[in-house]
Amino acid sequence: MTAEELRQLYFEFFIERGHTLIQGASLIPSEDSTILYTPAGMQPLVPYLLGEKHPAGRRLVNVQKCIRTGDIEEVGDSSHLTFFEMLGNWSLGDYFKRDSITWSFEFLTSGKWLGFNPQQLHVTVFAGDEQVPPDEEAASIWEEMGIPEDRIYFFGRDDNWWGPTGITGPCGPDTEIFIDTGKPPCSPDCRPGCGCGKYFEIWNNVFMEYSRTADGKYVPLEQKNVDTGMGVARTVAMMNGCESIYEIPLFQPLFGFLKKLSGLGQEPDGQALRSLRIVSDHIRTATHILGDDQGIPPSNLDRGYVLRRLIRLAIRHARILGIDGHFTRSLAEIVINEESSVHEELAKNREFILDELSSEEIRFEKTLQSGLREFEKLLPNLTRNPAKTIPGRIAFRLYDTYGFPVEFTAELALEQGMTIDMEGYRKAFDLHRELSRQGGDQKFKGGLADNSEMVTMLHTATHLLHQALRDVLGDHVEQKGSNITEKRLRFDFSHPEKLTDEEISMVEKRVNEVIQADMPVICEETQLENALKEGATGLFRNKYGDRVKIYRIGEFSIEICGGPHVGRTGELGRFKIMKEMSSSSGVRRIRAILE
Ligand code: ALA
Repeated sequence: MTAEELRQLYFEFFIERGHTLIQGASLIPSEDSTILYTPAGMQPLVPYLLGEKHPAGRRLVNVQKCIRTGDIEEVGDSSHLTFFEMLGNWSLGDYFKRDSITWSFEFLTSGKWLGFNPQQLHVTVFAGDEQVPPDEEAASIWEEMGIPEDRIYFFGRDDNWWGPTGITGPCGPDTEIFIDTGKPPCSPDCRPGCGCGKYFEIWNNVFMEYSRTADGKYVPLEQKNVDTGMGVARTVAMMNGCESIYEIPLFQPLFGFLKKLSGLGQEPDGQALRSLRIVSDHIRTATHILGDDQGIPPSNLDRGYVLRRLIRLAIRHARILGIDGHFTRSLAEIVINEESSVHEELAKNREFILDELSSEEIRFEKTLQSGLREFEKLLPNLTRNPAKTIPGRIAFRLYDTYGFPVEFTAELALEQGMTIDMEGYRKAFDLHRELSRQGGDQKFKGGLADNSEMVTMLHTATHLLHQALRDVLGDHVEQKGSNITEKRLRFDFSHPEKLTDEEISMVEKRVNEVIQADMPVICEETQLENALKEGATGLFRNKYGDRVKIYRIGEFSIEICGGPHVGRTGELGRFKIMKEMSSSSGVRRIRAILE
């Protein structure tokens, strides 16, 4: 069975039962800006679950594109994807538990529909707690369907309760349907949800009969709803007797391409299999994000940040597979060709998808190259260490300053017969986090591997601008504020009057000279008082605590700063001041770009 066949059967079944087929929504939620990507079919329907009238009626059926960013780390196992399609049938204050469960059972087991053996079905229901009673009703309907007691499991709120992301809103107990794959149990406690893969969850029926209030109470809803979600890839996998979702037809062209490119044998396993799954999943998800009609490019913020992380993780895992060249474009083309018949937006936005992937691949490559150069510079010293260990702080500096992922450093170290002091690395990482937390004004969290190159470049350019202003205008120039986006830097500084055209071009010239001189940017950690003695500038005012990070740009500039920065000024391109204006009394503002 293919995904398309399953979708058609599902629609037909529920249309026969009075449902109207509606369009799925965009991956990017329009109403609720606190959510990055649509995580479930119910999210776009929340207003209707709360009582608003839906133009298509009270019984709806659809397929919804979903992304679960919380599952990124899980990808690589047999059942998780970051992007997936969810089939749903909806009752907006119409039918409830009985019809919902009866139809699920019929659709799954009838020979006319999916024809699973009823013996394979295991279900879970809500066990109840101090606020909401156990869902005995759901359990007894399952028993009427012929599911014996020992295949009906009562679980608590963590497993059998569903509500939208966020705290308040419609929610309720659910019943989850699992297929027994026939594998041996992992332990005497093996059960649905234990994660060993014996039981595969394919469908969840939520009985939305409560609304959670801001003070944590569950108030019965006037309108009782049914929200269901059937995972397309999961169900297709079970229909085809596959052991993992990655064995379904949809993934075969992606796997085929990657295997060929990497020269892997027919049956990869272990880390290779995991990486193969991660690369396929992440580039597929990135393609769908970029291909959504509200497509957004990789960046350093929110949605763009998730996208960047997915693409860069995919590139890392492609490296593990031995793929060094560019591949994201070709892989995305396969996704577009395979899936545009259902997701027309992919074909429509083809150029945008492919161009953005290529640019991101190139940007990440630059990051890696500067890291590699730095590693090679350090190597003669490192190899002198008789313990053949690379200190954690060096690995961290490569990561922090160059965005060079520690796994890459480990790989390079291995080639030299060395290992990394991972404990030291983690310590340096934690110290950095603490300093950033105290620093407060550091823009970037969560690691440089996922930081935008452009923002990092503009950040280094800001240091150059700061020093050039002091050189041209005098030492009274002090930083008063700074704000950097992907497009431009904005720098506020103390100076009593408007800059003349001549001063502006002198500042520009000075910055460009330093860029051309390709000076190294070096990060060190030191005591605040030492940094001040050396004449370091920066917005410190004790808030960094006693130990501070300083960034030196050749002999030109030294600033207290949380980073991140590029490795050498030569990476910056041409610096250009776009605007000089007043910010407030005695404070001027410059907007500048890198061309
Ligand atoms: N909203 C439910 C889920 O996503 C159906 O599992």
